[in-house]
Amino acid sequence: MSEAKKLFIKTYGCQMNVYDSERMVEALGVDGYVTTEVVEDADMVLINTCHIREKASEKLFSDLGRLKPLKVARPDLKIGVAGCVAQAEGAEILRRMPLVDLVVGPQSYHRLPAMARAAGQGAQAIDTDFPAEDKFDHLPQRKAQRGPAAFLTVQEGCDKFCAFCVVPYTRGAEVSRPVSRLLAEARDLVGRGVREVTLLGQNVNAYHHVDDAGTWGLARLLREMAQIDGLVRLRYMTSHPNDMEDDLIAAHGDLPALAPYLHLPVQSGSDRILRAMNRKHTAAQYLALVARVRAARPDILLTSDFIVGFPGETEADFEATLALIRAVNFGMAYSFKYSARPGTPAAEKPEVDPAVADARLQRLQALLTAQQRAAQEAMVGREVSVLYEKKGRLPGQMVGKSDHLHAVHVTDPQGAVGDLVRVRITAASSNSLAGEPLAL
Ligand code: 5AD
Ligand code: SF4
Repeated sequence: MSEAKKLFIKTYGCQMNVYDSERMVEALGVDGYVTTEVVEDADMVLINTCHIREKASEKLFSDLGRLKPLKVARPDLKIGVAGCVAQAEGAEILRRMPLVDLVVGPQSYHRLPAMARAAGQGAQAIDTDFPAEDKFDHLPQRKAQRGPAAFLTVQEGCDKFCAFCVVPYTRGAEVSRPVSRLLAEARDLVGRGVREVTLLGQNVNAYHHVDDAGTWGLARLLREMAQIDGLVRLRYMTSHPNDMEDDLIAAHGDLPALAPYLHLPVQSGSDRILRAMNRKHTAAQYLALVARVRAARPDILLTSDFIVGFPGETEADFEATLALIRAVNFGMAYSFKYSARPGTPAAEKPEVDPAVADARLQRLQALLTAQQRAAQEAMVGREVSVLYEKKGRLPGQMVGKSDHLHAVHVTDPQGAVGDLVRVRITAASSNSLAGEPLAL
């Protein structure tokens, strides 16, 4: 038997890229590739890219620069670029970087194995089409064992056109995958040891599908998934406030498998900026939504995304964002300095002084970090469920995630990966919690 070919894959960006990378690894696995952590050993290097901010995009070119000596030494090394930079700048990548053998956009991953087979024979290949077929249907899967928590992409693309965002251009219009396929994939995952599934989509709560069983939104999909034997925990991300329908909010109250966790990006607390961002909701509407979600599930942990320094943001606008953060009290949040993306409406507008934006980002992050710490401290003494994902560094220790997505270290010599255990939280540190299993 010939020796296995080695694949080095690097993934940037969101969880959807993580999911896509897993599927690409499985598909290339059918062709005999196994993954390696050592880039020098690789027969193929695949970089799955993110285009959301300039910094994320630039990483591709510095990675490719570092690969140059490897490619010179071993011209048969195959180098591929996938993801949103591939989609947005594919031709430019090939022109600037002759060492790249193939460029494949997020909607064309089912064509990757064939492209990989043909690669390395001198000609560069590119596929950044938006084909009509579902790429996931045509991506072969290797039936490997896997960890207890998995991602499952149910929806891709976005129709919202926030003024700063490239996603509607790189990932295209909203497309939802059929319920039957998703249920089959979820059952397959459970058969391979998965107990928690996070449903993913750029705008996941806009999930919409019609089949013989009628119309499906995200709430109905979650309820159906919760029926799968062995699937004990569900999450979903990322959601737009305007698509939080009543039945989805209700599911947070009455669907036990649905974790008390919601990522609900708001971006800004200033109505003026929200309007300029084309978010189509106000700060007050967001706060009212948060109140309804909390009424359905009082212990829910809310997380969000923020952009500071959006064009035109004044000190008063920024103060309004801080006020919204204080009013909501987030369990965690991601925050970013605005980055102008070519082709988006906001990129035409004059930018805020970068030093001012930096200073605002620091103030915002200080507030968010304080809220995150407080949320972690507040868990001490409480009972939570922890899904063990791996063994800890200390003997008898297990590490997993709580319902609220906190990392928890549990002293539990009897514990095994995949167990869902009731745990009392005994301590909080900056990045994780510690706990002990409750006696049954
Ligand atoms: N600049 C900065 N942050 C951005 N995001 C999206 N586009 C930009 C941009 N141009 C952030 C938003 C979004 C998250 C995924 O990335 O906060 O919710
Ligand atoms: Fe981008 Fe807005 Fe769509 Fe989110 S909702 S992907 S921020 S356009």
